[in-house]
Amino acid sequence: MSNILVLNSSLSGEASVSRLLVADAVTELTQRDPGATLVFRDLAAAPIPHLTLETVAGVRAQATTPAELASRALSDELIAELRAADTIVIGAPMYNFSIPTTLRTWFDHVLRPGVTFSYSEAGPKGLIEGKRVIVVEARGGLYSEGPAQAADFQEPYLRQLLGFIGMTDVTFIRAEKIGYGPDARDQAVADSRAELARLAA
Ligand SMILES: Cc1cc2nc3c(=O)[nH]c(=O)nc-3n(C[C@H](O)[C@H](O)[C@H](O)COP(=O)(O)O)c2cc1C
Repeated sequence: MSNILVLNSSLSGEASVSRLLVADAVTELTQRDPGATLVFRDLAAAPIPHLTLETVAGVRAQATTPAELASRALSDELIAELRAADTIVIGAPMYNFSIPTTLRTWFDHVLRPGVTFSYSEAGPKGLIEGKRVIVVEARGGLYSEGPAQAADFQEPYLRQLLGFIGMTDVTFIRAEKIGYGPDARDQAVADSRAELARLAA
């Protein structure tokens, strides 16, 4: 029996393409493993607070004040969810060429020195290993080919964030041209669904 952690971050609710495809990915995964345990984090509905002057030490240094202890407790909770998961499904819309700030604050609490990564003479080492990650990327435009490729700060950034803490088995499902009209959106959803089905097979 496996554990699946599901992160959604789209602000578009029912209209969200990434949420739709994340739900499909979860269906595919649970069909293969009906006993799987699911943990959902909706980072849009229940945003994780930004780190501030008052809270940052809880994640990056010594926690002493109540605010620092609270941010450390939240970081502990999020990291425990991550550690417990075998598979992580992430819904990541492209916002301003990168990821939603709600998802970024999740990473701010999860990338923690000495806990999820360490430094040595050999360089940084990720401490969260053996995970499978599926990232659904929804984008208004086209970035996998053509002139906007260089403006894709979403996929390389996610690959870096995940890889930095040891998660290198990452599959990206790209739903592109969502802003090009209903036909393009439907085509992108159909293509991504087919890709998810292939992934499950
Ligand atoms: C705040 C905001 C910023 C966006 N920035 C970009 C962008 O930089 N590039 C792009 O191609 N689409 C951009 N979009 C469009 C979304 O990527 C697109 O609508 C996608 O489908 C969003 O994912 P969702 O359907 O899961 O909400 C943006 C949308 C919003 C709401």
